[in-house]
Amino acid sequence: MIQTISSVPYDGQKPGTSGLRKKVRVFQQPNYAENFIQSVFDVVEGKTGTSLVIGGDGRYHNRTVIQTAIRMAAANGYGRVLVGAGGILSTPAASHVIRKYGASGGLILSASHNPGGPDEDFGIKYNIANGGPAPEKVTDAIYARTRTINRWLTVDAPDIDLDTPGRVTVGGMTVEVIDSVADYAALMETLFDFDTIRSRVADGFTMSFDAMSAVTGPYATEILERRLGFAPGTVCNGNPLEDFGHHHPDPNLVHAKALYDRMMSADAPDFGAASDGDGDRNLIIGKGIFITPSDSLAMLAANAHLAPGYAAGLKGIARSMPTSAAADRVAEALGLPAFETPTGWKFFGNLLDAGMATICGEESAGTGSDHVREKDGLWAVLLWLNILAVRDMPAKALAEEHWARFGRNYYARHDYEAIETEKADALMAALNAALASLPGQSFGPLTVSAADNFAYLDPVDGSESRNQGVRILFVCGSRIVFRLSGTGTEGATLRVYLERYEGVDGTLDAETPAMLADLIAAAESVAGIARFTGRTAPDVVT
Ligand code: G1P
Ligand code: ZN
Repeated sequence: MIQTISSVPYDGQKPGTSGLRKKVRVFQQPNYAENFIQSVFDVVEGKTGTSLVIGGDGRYHNRTVIQTAIRMAAANGYGRVLVGAGGILSTPAASHVIRKYGASGGLILSASHNPGGPDEDFGIKYNIANGGPAPEKVTDAIYARTRTINRWLTVDAPDIDLDTPGRVTVGGMTVEVIDSVADYAALMETLFDFDTIRSRVADGFTMSFDAMSAVTGPYATEILERRLGFAPGTVCNGNPLEDFGHHHPDPNLVHAKALYDRMMSADAPDFGAASDGDGDRNLIIGKGIFITPSDSLAMLAANAHLAPGYAAGLKGIARSMPTSAAADRVAEALGLPAFETPTGWKFFGNLLDAGMATICGEESAGTGSDHVREKDGLWAVLLWLNILAVRDMPAKALAEEHWARFGRNYYARHDYEAIETEKADALMAALNAALASLPGQSFGPLTVSAADNFAYLDPVDGSESRNQGVRILFVCGSRIVFRLSGTGTEGATLRVYLERYEGVDGTLDAETPAMLADLIAAAESVAGIARFTGRTAPDVVT
């Protein structure tokens, strides 16, 4: 029996870069999650009788919302819900399950790399039938619906046992609790040369993987330790915890510092990696060398053909605008199309669906391919392992060889977190107002050649996305990008992206901060970060 619960709209349910993200306390308000999920169901067409995938990164509040969503899916006419055991599915695994089982979409419950716990963050994201995040026209429609919603639908049914794989019925709808890991691990076996990796491991190749007490623990343990033969203990923090052990499950040099320190020490393993809260990001650190995500994308693209899944070559390479141009140089050398999209994985979906790109990446530790429609942390780690195993060389040597062939894009991102929204908005407004007057101006040794606010015309569906970040290009080829985060839950986060290219005859082995010093000074002069925000140093440098 379908129950109609009356409700009134909440303000601020606009999905950001990656779904609706708010504090858990916000989601715990009566009808808050229900309003948003019902708005999704009201907007999605043709869902009757279809399958819906539900899974999350295991953070606090995950199980509560999953039980609610299952009852609501039954009331809204879905034929079947597939839910990961324990309520857990990594974001890439959820994308795969949507595609594999022909679901019409999925609800992914995650706030990615943001902390978890009663006072921390939660999120809900809707993915469409291709397995990827809903495009802007869908998220805009969902948001519009949240502003008028006046009821949500549910059925009177008890919570299901989420921990036992099997099939149950809720309000006449089938719910299948599926093994969270099996389908994903099987997919990875089709893409990578597990035999060659296994033989290098048998020869003594070692690694350390930090799962950050988040969702990838079970996946990494199954694939790295059980299937590839890495020693037990290779996966650290492998048990998903609701609060990620009070840590920030963000695989960067600040939050995965222990791994970084270990990889720089004398007794480092051969390879180090980490993933984030929901398993879509990756951190790659070779023995004695941190590989920036932008470089990682370029190096993976240049060598992907060494993995069986990509032996036929790539169709194209796509990167988000703030990501360094290192991948463009690989595309050029390989004669492949290169695409520059706005920030956020949702913009890659059309290119992948249309067969225009095979590998995509973002500077924010996101890399992936057309095997799913999300970025995929473990996939990137496995592709690295595959390449290093076939090439039989350390990551450091591979990186140096890459720079010697393509030149090096020195790169860093500076984040200023939890700035008051008005101050951040004022800074961006001033920058936008100054764009026309910037070309020709000099900041130290750097002269501006062009300045704009990035807009993207999707080559597949012709949709346009404006206001995607301020770009300041310098005559020497260096670049600064300024944009405000679309995933934060507290005030505003200013991201400043700095990039300097050195050609093959330039300086290829310098320290990044020194190479970027002039750009850092120019960023301050151009944007007045201290003047607008009172901040004199970034909170996080990645
Ligand atoms: C951030 C990253 C972006 C990524 C997104 C979701 O978004 O910068 O590349 O796609 O998280 O993981 P932002 O907070 O910058 O809007
Ligand atoms: Zn994530």
